[in-house]
Amino acid sequence: MSPIKNVVQALVKKAVELAPDTWLPGGKPDPLIEHRYGLIGAPVSRLDGALKVTGAAPFAAEFPIRGMVYAALAFSTIAKGRIRTLDTSAAEGAPGVVLVMTHKNAPRLQPTPIFNSSPKAVGPSDLPILQDDRIHWNGETIAVVLAQTQEQADYAKSLIRASYEPEPGMVAFAEAKRHARLPASVMGEPTTIEIGDAEAALAAAGHKVDITYETPHYNHNAIELHAITLYWDADGNLIVHDASQAVVQTAWTLAQAFGINEEQVHVSSPYVGGGFGGKTLWHHHVLAAAAAKISGRPVRLVLSREGVYRTVGGRTTTEQRVAIGASADGRFDALIHTGTAAMTAHNNCPEQFSFPARHLYSAGSIKIVQRVADMDMVANTFMRAPGESIGTFALECTVDAMAEQLAMDPIELRVRNEPAKDPTSGKPFSSRHLVEAYRNGAERFGWSKRSARPGILRDGEWQLGMGCASATYPYFRMPGGAARLTLTREGNATVQLAAHEMGMGTATTQAQITAERLGLPIECVTVTYGNSSLPGSFLAGGSSQTASIGGAVIAAHRELVSQLLKLAEQDSPVHGLKVDEVGSVNRGLCKLDDPGRCESYAAILSRADRDELTVEAKASQPLEMLHWSMHSFGAMFAEVRVNAVTGETRVSRFLGSFDCGRIVNAKTAASQFRGGIVMGIGLALMEETQFDERNGRIMNPSLSEYHIPVHMDVPDIDVIWTDIPDPHTPMGAHGVGEIGITGVGAAIANAIYNATGRRIRKLPITLDDLLPATGP
Ligand code: MOS
Repeated sequence: MSPIKNVVQALVKKAVELAPDTWLPGGKPDPLIEHRYGLIGAPVSRLDGALKVTGAAPFAAEFPIRGMVYAALAFSTIAKGRIRTLDTSAAEGAPGVVLVMTHKNAPRLQPTPIFNSSPKAVGPSDLPILQDDRIHWNGETIAVVLAQTQEQADYAKSLIRASYEPEPGMVAFAEAKRHARLPASVMGEPTTIEIGDAEAALAAAGHKVDITYETPHYNHNAIELHAITLYWDADGNLIVHDASQAVVQTAWTLAQAFGINEEQVHVSSPYVGGGFGGKTLWHHHVLAAAAAKISGRPVRLVLSREGVYRTVGGRTTTEQRVAIGASADGRFDALIHTGTAAMTAHNNCPEQFSFPARHLYSAGSIKIVQRVADMDMVANTFMRAPGESIGTFALECTVDAMAEQLAMDPIELRVRNEPAKDPTSGKPFSSRHLVEAYRNGAERFGWSKRSARPGILRDGEWQLGMGCASATYPYFRMPGGAARLTLTREGNATVQLAAHEMGMGTATTQAQITAERLGLPIECVTVTYGNSSLPGSFLAGGSSQTASIGGAVIAAHRELVSQLLKLAEQDSPVHGLKVDEVGSVNRGLCKLDDPGRCESYAAILSRADRDELTVEAKASQPLEMLHWSMHSFGAMFAEVRVNAVTGETRVSRFLGSFDCGRIVNAKTAASQFRGGIVMGIGLALMEETQFDERNGRIMNPSLSEYHIPVHMDVPDIDVIWTDIPDPHTPMGAHGVGEIGITGVGAAIANAIYNATGRRIRKLPITLDDLLPATGP
């Protein structure tokens, strides 16, 4: 970015921070916040539920295309170096094979622009894709085989023989972290924050805790494997059926790779079998499109489970230090959160583990430093609450340790250090009711029954304990939102936008919101989404989609009302009224302060002799994010049983008490919270990608060796929420998709400490960490 642009942006940022609330989006509360007994918050069941359970919902690998061939990928077995020989002759001669594509015959391609390098960039890395003989990570694709059947492609791929000239790669985190560097920023935020002299304050503090934590690499394991079915049409357009949480961005980035216009790439993704941050653009997209181009055949590429581990990144390895200095009354004099995350030199995902410490506690002095260490590995990426999930593990375990040292209840310690305004930015919080979430949660969970002293409660050979931790995740509304809204004379509405349904309930909640905003029954509203050709640019990421769509529908609804008022002639009861003077109620428009002055949409359209009215509008810029400190919050409570003989940990109860603004759908939000907590149990106790540190190869690329929680590992999970609307967001809502995993690792680790007296400082916490101490 140019220095001048930097200065201008800094000025705009400052102006937005200082601007009066009412000048900003969210400055005037969304009228829907006042709708108390309508569709907002109702536990509406998934509108796509029947399609899903009957198998009628088409996923990316289920679109049949005439003449389609199937792809299989061959992967490098070294981390760095060159391909010396690549023998594909046997594969080319195998039954059914249509094409074997390697760096020797792949079309010339541009690297994919990496995420954040421009508004629609979503490339995982800017590495060349099958353009030369160089290898950048162990598992990089070296060949694509196309064949008539999947089995033929898989078999032919097994016949490919490669030899390499390996070079020393950086494949061990212990070594890489010695060369850690400060990245340009951490997702647009500074890498380093120093308020006062935190190290000196720590040294001088009456009470101090200073702990270093380790967290491993975690892999994405969505039930639906990454899949695409695509073809080039006669006009040179690329038609892609994808499993995507970023359809517009994927279309744009693919266009860059092939040097074509973004309008020439059409990405559809109506259903996604789980995303969690992993279903963005990866090399297989580009490879499938390239193979389709040179073979002239439609291609289906479904990554094998191993293929996901080899070519799709996950949550990256970290080492984090959290230190707290406190006075005897519990007030924090110093809060320090520093550390290093593994990354590659070719991507842009520094795993923002230091974000929670920027916003959770007031402290006399604060020091935050976040570094990255470059490694030769598949580009790491977003995975449900990147940063916050493991950052809260380190931070919230340390707070627990400090509470014990002070002999204070850990909830009371948190309450004592609750900030009045954002401790690092100084901005006001838009809506923060974390203490209320703690009070509600403690009451419901029976926190008062916890033994303050660890290692006391037993049930036979099971040691029992309780722990708690804060959950937090930022509020995001993405720029680029837009929506098209069509209202028919029959009183039906369709809203069209390039958004995503990857299992979280977007289509359902947006139907509720749109219906409520238009004053229509939900049966009258259709949400069309999942296609890059639709208006707007959304990301099913950053827990932003509900607010981003909400902002777009607010704009489209306003435009619709304006157009309707223009159509309302002299004899209409709403003739001559301004947009701000009317509301949408009961299938029509009414004057706000005179409910007698109403006219139905049907009447307005009939009189104007219109069958339907279509409007399109862009969402306001999300300036509210610069003006307020905006976050979802939660208080997490875990009860565990740790076997004193085997070291086995069982989570016996879990409660998430959330403060995420207004909850839009009680059923789908509860599922999001629970899903996050289940994933948090995996993060805490089971999941770990294991690398062979001789060569950087992932050793457990399958669900038989990479453990995730199964039903037997998951207890009843209770979720509650404050339901206090944020006056500055669409619907008063905050994101709910990612916060559920945050705080879970710490709540479980703190409960394990409470049960056993053993504080484990690394994830996952496994049997061997908790086996009875042996030896002298
Ligand atoms: Mo989320 S990790 O931004 O899909």
